[in-house]
Amino acid sequence: MKNIHPVFDQIVGRAEKEKILGQRGVVLWFTGLSGAGKTTVAAQVERSLASRGILTQLLDGDNIRTGINSNLGFIEDDRRENIRRLAEVSRLFVQCGVVTLACAISPTLEMRAMARQIISPEDFIEIFIDSPLDVCESRDVKGLYRKARAGEMKHFTGIDAPFEAPLEPDIHLRTHEFSVGDCVRTVLAALERWGGRKAFETVNKHENRRP
Ligand code: ADX
Repeated sequence: MKNIHPVFDQIVGRAEKEKILGQRGVVLWFTGLSGAGKTTVAAQVERSLASRGILTQLLDGDNIRTGINSNLGFIEDDRRENIRRLAEVSRLFVQCGVVTLACAISPTLEMRAMARQIISPEDFIEIFIDSPLDVCESRDVKGLYRKARAGEMKHFTGIDAPFEAPLEPDIHLRTHEFSVGDCVRTVLAALERWGGRKAFETVNKHENRRP
């Protein structure tokens, strides 16, 4: 990039920050249709991690779109930019050692691959919050599916905009078949099984430190 001179060597680095926190950063990236339960599951995972003394940050598409991404809509280019910024912000948190939960429809394989690259593959755990369209539509928590079907909203994911299911998600949660509690336990158990992955160390370190 022209005339830009990033400074990385003078600022306090990730390892030092992780040492201060006593944990390792990772991004849990929740993808799925609107109404599938991304925020619900992520919020409860976050609560469980917090109760174990782990510093977290939940970044939710709807929230982010009221702030840093308030100038973006739902055409494909805007969604790509939405995901790019969400990934860049997630990366900043991970570099700070924070366990980051990012929730966004992130509808295409390409957008999620971009997020994975921005964040770095070893810091990226893809969680597919999988609920069939008809189930999301019948829940219609926000009343948006009804509007989309009535033609009052355009480019609605699953109706007249695509959703490409992950081919090999790290964690696959069928939220219409399992309770929220079960899904949360699956995520926490997966984190604990992660072995070489950093989140695993985070969870264990804190558990071991308990009296
Ligand atoms: S993404 O496709 O760019 O990843 P994001 O997760 O940030 O989407 O935002 C999705 C949320 O925006 C939905 O949960 C819903 O509340 C709202 N929304 C508004 N318009 C749309 C639309 N056309 N398609 C999907 N969600 C929409």
